[in-house]
Amino acid sequence: MNHNAKKSEVAIEVFDLTVAYDIKPVLWDVDILFRRAKSTAIVGPNGAGKSTLIKAMLGMIRPLTGAVHFYSKSGLLQRNQIAYVPQSASIDWDFPITVLDVVLMGRYGHLGWIKRPGKHDRELATDALEKVGMQDYKTRQISELSGGQQQRVFLARAFAQEATVYLMDEPFKGVDASTEAAIVDLLKEIISSGNTIVLVHHDLNTVADYFDELCLINKRIIAHGPIEKVFNEENINRTYGRNSLAKAGLA
Ligand SMILES: Nc1ncnc2c1ncn2[C@@H]1O[C@H](COP(=O)(O)OP(=O)(O)OP(=O)(O)O)[C@@H](O)[C@H]1O
Ligand SMILES: [Mg+2]
Repeated sequence: MNHNAKKSEVAIEVFDLTVAYDIKPVLWDVDILFRRAKSTAIVGPNGAGKSTLIKAMLGMIRPLTGAVHFYSKSGLLQRNQIAYVPQSASIDWDFPITVLDVVLMGRYGHLGWIKRPGKHDRELATDALEKVGMQDYKTRQISELSGGQQQRVFLARAFAQEATVYLMDEPFKGVDASTEAAIVDLLKEIISSGNTIVLVHHDLNTVADYFDELCLINKRIIAHGPIEKVFNEENINRTYGRNSLAKAGLA
């Protein structure tokens, strides 16, 4: 970890994190610092522990060791300032709920005790649906949407939250190219307003265009830092195995 970074530049600090589901750890000794107003891609092979890292950062999984701190200007961040987009395959839509209600869930952290979402919340939710091109589906049941459309609704939920930190687990999976381009523009807006994004990503072709920093992971952190320093053949091969960049047609 870069201990030289000033506290005011730090959005998230992960200390000495080790996570196991059974006895065997799937994520070892993670020490990492995510900078404020930067976007970081988390990249690594299937089973590398990317989703596990995000879930452990959110406190959804209890680690064997370690701690995670989220910072705002005034100190530690409130939970409602952290938006999460889960990996799509993990979502089970057996219960009836409309698209608008899913997006309004992003506003719950802003509501007071037993308060219902108001006009402002509904406007923000509608605006977020427009941003992902899903405004015509407001009253539809979420279970009646295609996989890519559901993913876009989940992104809208995160955007409606107006969070400080966004943790996104493969948000581009299953969305079409034009939606992806629109979402990338939104992510850049989020960063330029001073907020922070940590995003699990699989596409090595777009990593350098979309992100400021890259974190390569395979059960441990292999490399982390600015894209121009970290995104090279040697590091990719250390993460995925020998000659993987050449095999992917990128070397
Ligand atoms: N709930 C669970 N119980 C037991 N083992 C799990 C559980 N979730 C994940 N694992 C295991 O932990 C390891 C890391 O899984 P994780 O989901 O974090 O990988 P990932 O990097 O997100 O992979 P992918 O690219 O496929 O999404 C894998 O070996 C996986 O089989
Ligand atoms: Mg995953």
